Amino acid sequence: MRLQKIFWGVIVILAISIGLYPYSYLIFDMSRGLLGSKSEELLSSPYWNFAFYTHIYLGGLVLLIGWTQFVKRLREKKIWLHRTLGKIYILLVLLSGVAGLYISFYATGGVVTKIGFGTLALSWLITTITAYSFIRIKDIEKHQNWMIRSYALTFAAVTLRLWMPILPIAFQLEFIESYRIISWLCWVPNLVFAELLIQRNFFKY
Ligand code: HEM
Repeated sequence: MRLQKIFWGVIVILAISIGLYPYSYLIFDMSRGLLGSKSEELLSSPYWNFAFYTHIYLGGLVLLIGWTQFVKRLREKKIWLHRTLGKIYILLVLLSGVAGLYISFYATGGVVTKIGFGTLALSWLITTITAYSFIRIKDIEKHQNWMIRSYALTFAAVTLRLWMPILPIAFQLEFIESYRIISWLCWVPNLVFAELLIQRNFFKY
């Protein structure tokens, strides 16, 4: 029980801090970060810009609201709120996910990162749509299991930013080498972890 509370505390703190991170693009000059690795041509593309900012701002909201859906007390006391936030979560994943899929074709690091982020985007869309289709037929257990998978993938945004400083230091890798590995490492272990949570009935519905 104590361990469960600590685990939740960590999840919530990470979800809120990384969920707010995209909005730093509204406040600070971010041209030295990821944008610094992009060509002038891409940076002036209205399609890429539209997809990039749609992806990051809506993705931030997905992280911010997603964890609240697992709070049992909220579901029991205010089911209407769970339903409303759930619909918003799904809509935001669809928009941020399709935009994420589009920008993955232009990801820094070449074919490995393009396929890594592209597969993540497709898995994010599929798990979320599957979770929704199970609640439409009132299968609560399967709905919850697929939402655990969906949010584990949403958490790729968090784990990516945790791996980013660790991997190059731990294995003496160049940025681009570690970025290629992280485009997979940020989400495949999350899915394995989600399966463990599901098997152990971590969130008893
Ligand atoms: C789970 C599915 C997701 C996919 C497939 C995905 C994909 C991508 C891709 C392809 C990029 C551009 C990478 C590049 O050009 O090298 C990117 C950047 C970014 N994504 Fe996502 N992403 C996902 C989830 C999220 C979420 C939930 C957030 C919310 C915080 C988020 C926030 C960002 C931000 C802020 C950037 C800009 C890079 C930075 O400043 O660190 N992403 N994402």
